[in-house]
Amino acid sequence: MGLEEIRKQFPILTRQVNGKQLVYLDNAATTQKPEAVINAISEFYLQSNSNVHRGFHTLSEEATQQYTAAHEKVAKFTNATGIEEIVFTRNATEAINLVAQTVGRQLLVSGDVVVLTEMEHHSNIVPWQLLAKEKGITIEWIGVKDDFQLDEENLRFILGRYGDRVKLLSVVDVSNVLGVRNNVKQLISIAKQAGAATLVDCAQSVSRFKIDVKEWGCDFLVFSGHKLFGPTGTGVLYARKQWLEKLEPWMGGGEMVVSVNKASAIWADSPWKFEAGTPNIAGGIGLGAAIDWVDRNIDFSEHAVNEKDLIDIALKGLSQISGISILGPTDSTERFGVVAFSVDKVHPHDIASFLDEDGIAIRAGYHCAEPVHKRFGFGSTARISFALYNTKQEVEAFLDSLSRCIKKFR
Ligand SMILES: Cc1ncc(COP(=O)(O)O)c(C=O)c1O
Repeated sequence: MGLEEIRKQFPILTRQVNGKQLVYLDNAATTQKPEAVINAISEFYLQSNSNVHRGFHTLSEEATQQYTAAHEKVAKFTNATGIEEIVFTRNATEAINLVAQTVGRQLLVSGDVVVLTEMEHHSNIVPWQLLAKEKGITIEWIGVKDDFQLDEENLRFILGRYGDRVKLLSVVDVSNVLGVRNNVKQLISIAKQAGAATLVDCAQSVSRFKIDVKEWGCDFLVFSGHKLFGPTGTGVLYARKQWLEKLEPWMGGGEMVVSVNKASAIWADSPWKFEAGTPNIAGGIGLGAAIDWVDRNIDFSEHAVNEKDLIDIALKGLSQISGISILGPTDSTERFGVVAFSVDKVHPHDIASFLDEDGIAIRAGYHCAEPVHKRFGFGSTARISFALYNTKQEVEAFLDSLSRCIKKFR
């Protein structure tokens, strides 16, 4: 499907902001939703709204069938074995917390090591810091080299130093600040040889690369449904069946049990054992619709070509403006989805506000990844991020607005 056709499917892209045509370049935070997803959610509320798993009436059966089908779609999309490996969460953050609160609390002991990287999003840092406080585990870091690539030797060094006390490697696939893609397959292979479990954060990669949990052989994989054109309030944890069978749930309540007496309870099978309480049914169904939409319409390799062009234009344009420092590689072949930068003497918040006057939505701050900013001596940055509906004209509009902004503030 061509770019124009794709854009037509996202109703919000036609709206005006501050009297100007919206240019949405904040896709790393959340993507816009195609009509198919919006329709699936309203169709659910118009026709089938009911609770899942517990009713024997038609609406409840429809809701249960559609919600279960959404899990099946995610299982197929990620090449998981089946829905028993797919837990729906509120977002990627909750999925990582689920692993920290189950694997971490139930299986790790003081002195065990969790390995992260310096380019992680806070959602893959703070849950482990909470666990470190509670259980006395140690966090070790794979550094980022000056060329913005991970220093894989650090992982070998950590494994050599701690041996089988290293229990988990938790690593981001595509960085939401540097835009680099890590060699996840290689990192998983090294960690597995040392007996460590592995978690991959695909929040930024899920909308641009085919995810295949079997090809990687990871134990856990997380992503946000809302960054894959699905509704907000949706996220996914993939976990190998053996893990979900052996782990105890982290939250208790209805929907996750088959029987309860005063002394104890018997858990439902996975994934429901990890989805306590009434889930985000409409959101889950909307996520299923988003996956159908991607499957029907999107060829990731075609969009990679368009995105590379956009990044090229952005990088070239930015490099021609004096006083701009780009955080991350300046070669578009090493970058996916995002370009973060700072401007000498102009605060990123002022840039974002100025651009908003022109209808251009970008982000300013640390993008929940403060350590990687600090690693490269940056304060907060401005960030543009793309999705498959962005155009060259939009990047040019951004560059034009940014130039005017800099003139005004300097
Ligand atoms: C790399 C990465 N991981 C995790 C997250 C957290 O996603 P969510 O806020 O949907 O939990 C984000 C969000 O920006 C991200 O970019």
